[in-house]
Amino acid sequence: MKTHQLFVITLALTTVVSCKKDTLVEQVDVPATPIEVVKVKGGSSNATDVKATEGAFEMYQLPYNYKALEPNFDATTTEIHYSKHHLGYVNNLNKAVIGTKYETLALNDIFKNLNLSDTEIRNNAGGFYNHNFFWGNMAANAGGEPEGDLMEAIIRDFGSFDGFRSQFTEASLKVFGSGWTWLVSDKTGKLRIVTTPNNDNPLMKNLGFSGIPLLNLDMWEHAYYLKFQNKKREYVNTFFSVINWAEVLKKYDAFPKVAVSIVPTSTTTETTIPAETPTAVPDEFK
Ligand SMILES: [Fe+2]
Repeated sequence: MKTHQLFVITLALTTVVSCKKDTLVEQVDVPATPIEVVKVKGGSSNATDVKATEGAFEMYQLPYNYKALEPNFDATTTEIHYSKHHLGYVNNLNKAVIGTKYETLALNDIFKNLNLSDTEIRNNAGGFYNHNFFWGNMAANAGGEPEGDLMEAIIRDFGSFDGFRSQFTEASLKVFGSGWTWLVSDKTGKLRIVTTPNNDNPLMKNLGFSGIPLLNLDMWEHAYYLKFQNKKREYVNTFFSVINWAEVLKKYDAFPKVAVSIVPTSTTTETTIPAETPTAVPDEFK
């Protein structure tokens, strides 16, 4: 091999080696990315400065401050949920009712007269009512189990409190997309668990079922994602630590239970509910 050929080969090899060296990645310590704390503009610790735009409906006043449900539900989620999502429904509803047959109706009357194809009203009146109800379900230092005739009804209709809790949890986990889980009562006081999509609720006419709402759980991602991410079961379990059962009992005791006449037959019993008895609906959010 001639000298100049040897030189070229040596040079090429040197280049390959040095290129290889260039591709080596030096490991360095990368400082951890700081976690950005979400700050809600205009938020406050007591939520009293959250006002709806002028209109038929006013913002529901949160009965506790944003931190009250910690460590179960974090203050940031509560604040964003209340001051952004909930407020949005009220403002949109105030706009949507203008010039419609719903303009002068109280919230419960909107549901009684609702045309399901009026989607702006359906979604926003539902969002308003459901969230009012949801906040009232919860309290600091709550949870545990209900007392009184509500507990008796739960045991009668679900076998036990644990049976109810398990059915409520599984129903919640089956909500596909966004929706709500409800504990409702019929006029006799019989309890049922139902779920509704989007912002529908058991007071809406023509949904195929009806009931007097006693308890609800928000299964929209905005209710849990910041803290629980995809761990929906953990979110539902945590909800049981903040349920204000005294308030649920108050709702259950607020309507008269219709007397049910039991007509025995040879093999079954038939339950007859008098048709003329009006449905009593709690109207605290009118
Ligand atoms: Fe929500």
